[in-house]
Amino acid sequence: MAKTIIQYKCTSCGRAAAKPLGRCPGCGEWNTYAEEILESSSPRRASAKGRGGGSQPRPLAEIEGGAENQRMALSIGEFGRVLGGGVVPGSLVLLGGDPGIGKSTLLLQTAIELAASDTVLYVSGEESPGQIKMRAERLRRSAGVADSNATREPMNQANGDQPLPDKLLLVTETNIEAILQHVAAVKPRVLIIDSIQTVYDPAVDSSAGSVTQLRECSDRFRQLAKGSGLAVFLIGHVTKEGVIAGPRLLEHMVDTVLYLEGDRFHSYRLLRAVKNRFGATDEVGVFEMRGQGLQEVPNPSEAFLAERVVNAPGSAIAVTMEGTRPLLVEVQGLTSPSAFGNPRRSGNGVDLNRLLLITAVLTRRLGLRLGDQDVFVNVVGGLRIGEPAADLALAAAIYSSSKDLPLRADTVLIGEVGLSGELRAAPQLAARLKEAAALGFQTAVLPKRLRAGEELPKGITIKEARTLREALEMASQPA
Ligand code: TYD
Ligand code: MG
Repeated sequence: MAKTIIQYKCTSCGRAAAKPLGRCPGCGEWNTYAEEILESSSPRRASAKGRGGGSQPRPLAEIEGGAENQRMALSIGEFGRVLGGGVVPGSLVLLGGDPGIGKSTLLLQTAIELAASDTVLYVSGEESPGQIKMRAERLRRSAGVADSNATREPMNQANGDQPLPDKLLLVTETNIEAILQHVAAVKPRVLIIDSIQTVYDPAVDSSAGSVTQLRECSDRFRQLAKGSGLAVFLIGHVTKEGVIAGPRLLEHMVDTVLYLEGDRFHSYRLLRAVKNRFGATDEVGVFEMRGQGLQEVPNPSEAFLAERVVNAPGSAIAVTMEGTRPLLVEVQGLTSPSAFGNPRRSGNGVDLNRLLLITAVLTRRLGLRLGDQDVFVNVVGGLRIGEPAADLALAAAIYSSSKDLPLRADTVLIGEVGLSGELRAAPQLAARLKEAAALGFQTAVLPKRLRAGEELPKGITIKEARTLREALEMASQPA
């Protein structure tokens, strides 16, 4: 039996109160409180959970730790790993990213997979049913197939002939009341909203995608998730101005925030957990966008190094950490005489300030003549390197191109470069070296370690340098 609860809520910031307040203590706005009727649409569980006041304090020890063992496993392993080990019932997950990066693709793939055993409702306000069907047809061939097999045999018969699962339901709807009615009727275990920016609450007097609508609708989905044990995924576009006029705003309301990143013109995508109540943050999954959707890349370092030309001047290998995972990437540098008086510095995948700093250090501390040279740096694969530990590789790539001398092909470079040309240690050295050794690199050039605290893997020779100059000598091929 459905129970009706009335509460009051600030339409500006979403703060709830037992009675209407003149001024909202949350956001300071006046006369923003509106009545809200909470109907426990799923009396089966909602009332038992006591959302409306029937709650009782209980010893933590006696509370069932439900979620962990009820996680829905995913065979798209990278996605499951980033989530912390599968989909948690009752969780609210926000997937953000630039338009066109592959958010709908990732969740549709996931939906196809989960629908093999559980009912999944996919709500789209972005595309027509026909469009989604076409995409799903293409994706289903890869659903549930671990990477390598799927790519080598794209028409893998065992999977190619499988129809789309009956438990995958699709509706194109943007009115939240209608969506909630569908949920009540269909009772899915997983609900996917594509995208939260298209959903609106008719009771709120502003247009879809506005701050008020985003907060209001997300809050409704949060209540739905918590009240009924349904796992809800919200897709949110990052707007051009960066800071997602949606997702950033919603981060505190959801359990998990994932961002799908990458360069639209490169095929690699990184899925990053920036907040996760059910797993580690900073976990990163690597995917490649193929003709049949997103394929996981089980060994990303290998992929990022695949097209490397060894012994080419201007190429250096950095070992960066993406969350807890080390990634080997090629950094390329190119120096060439400037056509005009004003030499250019341009970086792809690196921070421009970092590049300027390193160019300056190379000029001042190593006497490299870059004053009349354009300097370009590129990180292969469309990856972005955000950590200073890649400084040394960046410097080496520029140095190597400027001198037209290739670096040792079997060597990785790890370390931060300081303004005096000194080197500084990078964290998580052991993990980085292990990955480098696993990929067949034989030497690592590192900053001199003050304490030999961390135990380093055996299979790789370590050369320690105090300064950038020493490190570059160690990394250069013998003349
Ligand atoms: P999409 O999932 O629609 O992006 P979002 O929902 O984040 O806006 O992805 C769109 C892009 O992905 C589009 O440019 C085409 C590409 N794509 C593929 O390359 N292969 C595929 O199998 C699919 C479905 C999409
Ligand atoms: Mg989309």
